[in-house]
Amino acid sequence: MQKPKTIRVKDKDFTISIPEAELKQQIKRVADEINRDYAGKKPVFLAVLNGSFIFAADLLREIDLPCEISFVKLASYEGTSTTGTIREVIGLNIDITGRPVIIVEDIVDTGLTMAHMLDTLKGHNPASIDICTLLLKPTKLQVKLNVRYCCKEIPDDFVVGFGLDYDSFGRNTKDIYTIINQ
Ligand code: IMP
Repeated sequence: MQKPKTIRVKDKDFTISIPEAELKQQIKRVADEINRDYAGKKPVFLAVLNGSFIFAADLLREIDLPCEISFVKLASYEGTSTTGTIREVIGLNIDITGRPVIIVEDIVDTGLTMAHMLDTLKGHNPASIDICTLLLKPTKLQVKLNVRYCCKEIPDDFVVGFGLDYDSFGRNTKDIYTIINQ
């Protein structure tokens, strides 16, 4: 069956922008880099829910190192002072002390989520922390962030599919779609 070129998620229309085959190809490329860079190590992959569940599943099946995976979620609170939103990593149920950690994220936009995540994880004294993201919007970055592994850089447009959502919907498509007339 032909894939739809456009889809509707809730009240918005999206057009196909990254086909599944390209995603798989880029995930394999990044997994090969990790296999090479982490040779001889036993990394812990920390996949950030909900958005990274499909990416993490595909990435892990291309990793041929001895490794663990755990899933974490970020809780957001409205700050009581001018610091604004504070995020907390919840569900970190393994000891990462002295371990090389690879964060698996769906998309890095402003980079604030990853910056908070790095801060929190550093408190657990891992041996190292690298960020591995499916997508990155370089023009949106608001903080200095070292994203070591990135499958694809995209323009500053809202996307859904392959685990990414619009208002909790649209995660279940094989391809990635970009919003039309944002
Ligand atoms: P950041 O803190 O601005 O980097 O935002 C990261 C989070 O925002 C991601 O983990 C996503 O949950 C969400 N996000 C940012 N851009 C998009 C998008 O284009 N589609 C879906 N979710 C997005």
